[in-house]
Amino acid sequence: MMRCVRCHRDVTFRTAGGFVECPACEERYPLVENAIPVFLENAAAAESAYGSVFREGAASYDADWRIDPAHGRWVLDRLLILEPAILEHAGEPMLEIGAGTGHLTRTLAASGHVPYSTLWVTDLSAEMLTVNWRRRTAEERDKDVRYMVCNVLRVPAPDATIGVVFGFDILHHVLDYTRGLAEIQRLLRPGGVCVLKEPHRGAYVFLRFLARLLVRTRSRSGLFGRLSRHDRTRLEEWERHAHRLMELHDAGDHSGLGNVDDKYFFDPKRLRNEACALGFRRFSECNVLFREAERIPYAPMFVDHFRGLGLSAAGLDHVAEIGAEVDATFGQLLLEHAPINTLFLFWK
Ligand SMILES: C[S@@+](CC[C@H](N)C(=O)[O-])C[C@H]1O[C@@H](n2cnc3c(N)ncnc32)[C@H](O)[C@@H]1O
Ligand SMILES: [Zn+2]
Repeated sequence: MMRCVRCHRDVTFRTAGGFVECPACEERYPLVENAIPVFLENAAAAESAYGSVFREGAASYDADWRIDPAHGRWVLDRLLILEPAILEHAGEPMLEIGAGTGHLTRTLAASGHVPYSTLWVTDLSAEMLTVNWRRRTAEERDKDVRYMVCNVLRVPAPDATIGVVFGFDILHHVLDYTRGLAEIQRLLRPGGVCVLKEPHRGAYVFLRFLARLLVRTRSRSGLFGRLSRHDRTRLEEWERHAHRLMELHDAGDHSGLGNVDDKYFFDPKRLRNEACALGFRRFSECNVLFREAERIPYAPMFVDHFRGLGLSAAGLDHVAEIGAEVDATFGQLLLEHAPINTLFLFWK
């Protein structure tokens, strides 16, 4: 059973002649790759919800953004150590939102990490999801993994049917993200949980500081070596963008964010209040760098961040150099107040 995104009735869709049809309102949803239904109320509006990165950029996305194919598995491993309660949902239907090119999908779909009955793999961008779908392994094809294009604001599944929702780096792209959280709340079974990996405000305050430091120290007596013009420009652009976002957030002004790709850095205190207002039973934060008393070094995380911005190898050496110093002095403080790769958990 699914829910039609046009008439909002719970239906069993019919597939015929390259379409999926709603038996209640007769809306026809197209298929891409002759396999993936596109459940969008308004495809044109959906397309303008994000920049070209997730459309024209889909084919080269992983190379352009230096996506590490092992990242999803690493984060999921850490999650299961730190929040083993997730496994109470083993064997239930699960949903991945904003699945993109699929580094998390591969782990979710194939591994016995978090066993599911059905795994729904979804994204607003047909182009991103097609890349993901083409990467299915033989092992995954034997399982009940279903791909569909849909908006996190309107997922074609009935109320209270999903045990776990996963989403990595999606919510900060959604202008009306509280509506997205409300939709997730609707989809979760009682006791179900939504696991989101999203940018943490504290981490970006720190990364901005680091970007400024790198740009400003470029000419000092070889202290951190010389940054190339390319690296300096990338850092300056990113720092300006991050600065503007923070100003808009602090002013509570989201009007200028419509066509910006990265719209938010999340403040956990604010998310907690929003989760509470939406009727989630509990909200928690999970810093994947903690493991009991031991901690994983922080510095490689910000090297990863700047690699994603397209810094050169030499530029990244500077980042690593400063990073190691900062980590040695402020590591513990940063882990607590500026965690990178934070998971936000919403428990229904
Ligand atoms: C930064 S990418 C992350 C992709 C993948 N989760 C990963 O970790 O590599 C963000 C993804 O969210 C998708 N997205 C953006 N807005 C969305 C929305 N409103 N509903 C569903 N997906 C959305 C984009 O198409 C894109 O694939
Ligand atoms: Zn319908």
